[in-house]
Amino acid sequence: MVTIKSKKEIEAMRQACKVVALTYKELERKIKPGMSTWELDQIAEKVIRENGAIPAEKGYDIGIKGVPPYPAATCISVNDEIIHGIPSKKKIIQDGDIVSVDLVALKNGFNGDAARTFLVGNVSKEARRLVEITKQAFFEGIKFAKPGYRIGDISHRIGEFVKENGYSVVREFQGHGIGRQMHEDPGIPNFGKPGKGLRLEPGMTLAIEPMVIQGREEIVELEDGWTIVTEDGSLSAHYENTILITEKEPEILTIL
Ligand code: MF3
Ligand code: CO
Repeated sequence: MVTIKSKKEIEAMRQACKVVALTYKELERKIKPGMSTWELDQIAEKVIRENGAIPAEKGYDIGIKGVPPYPAATCISVNDEIIHGIPSKKKIIQDGDIVSVDLVALKNGFNGDAARTFLVGNVSKEARRLVEITKQAFFEGIKFAKPGYRIGDISHRIGEFVKENGYSVVREFQGHGIGRQMHEDPGIPNFGKPGKGLRLEPGMTLAIEPMVIQGREEIVELEDGWTIVTEDGSLSAHYENTILITEKEPEILTIL
């Protein structure tokens, strides 16, 4: 179901999204080579809870038989891992890694969702470019995030921008509406047809999230039932914000 948020609900969305932004500020300050992804997850969980929110990914059930509920506060996906990497004490962040973090804060009944790919230490020029283009793809897409356009306009622009820059988009996962539920309608693919899909209206809150692969678009799911990696072993980056559709330009709720 597509939900249009009231003034009061939008205020609650703002609060949840603010916690997400604060968490990323802290992660950006703390992330260092030598640290495990588990330690990074602990830091995020602490900030989320200190700000009166709950890490909504913890215990999240995607409803697929045999897939256990998600065990951590954040998803941390390193290098060729695309999304849903499970934080682990054994996974040590190395100099030169690109580290994608995806987290959701639930506060007063509403969810805020964002992802960032951090550059750790001396990152290659190629990897930096991938991360930059992924972020830019989000900003290209939201040029169409206003009344008068449709979901397909956003999707199309993201997909074209990524392709123009020589990369692939992940086709099996997508952005989404967000509110009381982490995942609401509509789905927002990172490729699509202009002029197609749901019309955008003020009061919609959307999580838009380009997932970009340096090489081929094929993906593989690991045995843990969660981690998604690139099939060709090339790098992947992720960038996501929760936005509010208004009468004019969208408001990015997960950036302070
Ligand atoms: N936060 C992710 C998204 O961007 C969903 C992660 S799945 C979970 O939609 F199980 F980890 F929560
Ligand atoms: Co999301």
